[in-house]
Amino acid sequence: MLGNIQEGIHWYAGAKPSSHYKLLILRPADDVGTRQLRQIIRGMWRIIDSLRGGIVPSLGPNYPVDPKNLEVLIGYGHKFFERDDLERPTPEGMIQGNRFPQPQDNRDRSVLPGSGIVYDDDVAENVADAELVLQVTANSELGVNRVHFEVSKYLNDIGLSANGDSLISIDESFSGFGREDRRSWIDFHDGISNLRKGEERRQVVAIKPDNSGGQEWTLNGTYMVFMHLPVNIQAWNAIPEQRQEALVGRTKRSGCPILRLDNRGAPVADPRCPISGTREITDAGNEKFREPSSVVSDEIKLSHVQRANHHRSPVFKPDSRRIYRQGFEFLEKSDESGKIRVGLNFVSFQDDPDRVLFILTHSDWLGNLSFGGHQNDQQGGLERLITTRAAGTYYIPPVQINSSFPGEDMFPQ
Ligand code: HEM
Repeated sequence: MLGNIQEGIHWYAGAKPSSHYKLLILRPADDVGTRQLRQIIRGMWRIIDSLRGGIVPSLGPNYPVDPKNLEVLIGYGHKFFERDDLERPTPEGMIQGNRFPQPQDNRDRSVLPGSGIVYDDDVAENVADAELVLQVTANSELGVNRVHFEVSKYLNDIGLSANGDSLISIDESFSGFGREDRRSWIDFHDGISNLRKGEERRQVVAIKPDNSGGQEWTLNGTYMVFMHLPVNIQAWNAIPEQRQEALVGRTKRSGCPILRLDNRGAPVADPRCPISGTREITDAGNEKFREPSSVVSDEIKLSHVQRANHHRSPVFKPDSRRIYRQGFEFLEKSDESGKIRVGLNFVSFQDDPDRVLFILTHSDWLGNLSFGGHQNDQQGGLERLITTRAAGTYYIPPVQINSSFPGEDMFPQ
């Protein structure tokens, strides 16, 4: 029977982005077999279901809490598909070519061959190349942390493996939040041009019969690409504002799309935007300017927005390379004393991970660049404006009514 797209993906009409985000990276011990893993996930999912309904296991149903629109999604990474006793073949999108490699000492540290985004120097392991992940979103910090807390408690309580290790440990977590000003740390608006809610987003997100490779059980599943991307704000702030605007492809203050540079090199935005009586692209009336024009000068074709979207249609075809981005900003303590690290938890959903991996690695797109501009003009910190600390690709199975948790049909009985 055809399943449904998992919750936590805001594709449908009326969906509102959540304010809080957490990605939990789960690592089963080496000696946890696939059948045992299924039982553990079942138990974990019962707790998650109860939290979704506002019931905290230790308080019981008479003392419900507001779940704050808690949504939890489960994803399966490349390590899961290394198991040799799964009931289903590996989903089409989880081929090895779609796996983010581990950072190599003294060798190429790019997040993918052909990408200009490199691992930070101090990152020895890509922890997001994982077996299982949980994406937790809610409209309060407590909402997401409660899941982290209760799942940790459950995993502690179920005992140890034969080797004395935790049966599943939470290796790492990445936190993030939505910004109500709809901007990013580089001050520009983000998530503005992002496919229309409803059918257009669904066409990009959901695995469909013509790209499931005959794997019917994956229909209405999707693939998630996650990257934890610090931004070098000092390098960004050293770039003059007009150059920043040309690099992004939008004006900094209004967010209006840029069409060309004038003869003094100043960006020229669409003169109709923003419409009179409004200030920013986010104001009502400016909807038609949210997706930048495909008719721009050659210099503006090098901008981030133009490189990341070549305006190809129809969007349901993977070679349109359109993706549904659902990122969350982060601010965290840096390992350097007294310093902070800020950036974007890049999250995207699409019916084929290659939609994103292609954007990241091809030279007419973002290939060999950390953000945008011309490949021969990357000095002054621009070459390492965006770096990465972790990256992963995950299969997000559909929800089936007769399963205890999404993806259960992949486990042996
Ligand atoms: C920290 C990292 C990044 C920052 C700060 C950033 C920032 C931005 C900004 C300011 C925009 C313009 C606003 C908008 O049109 O929504 C944008 C658009 C976009 N970005 Fe990024 N971005 C980052 C990483 C990435 C990566 C890794 C990809 C990889 C695929 C990507 C793909 C896109 C796409 C597809 C668009 C929309 C282009 C359009 O449809 O017009 N971004 N980004």
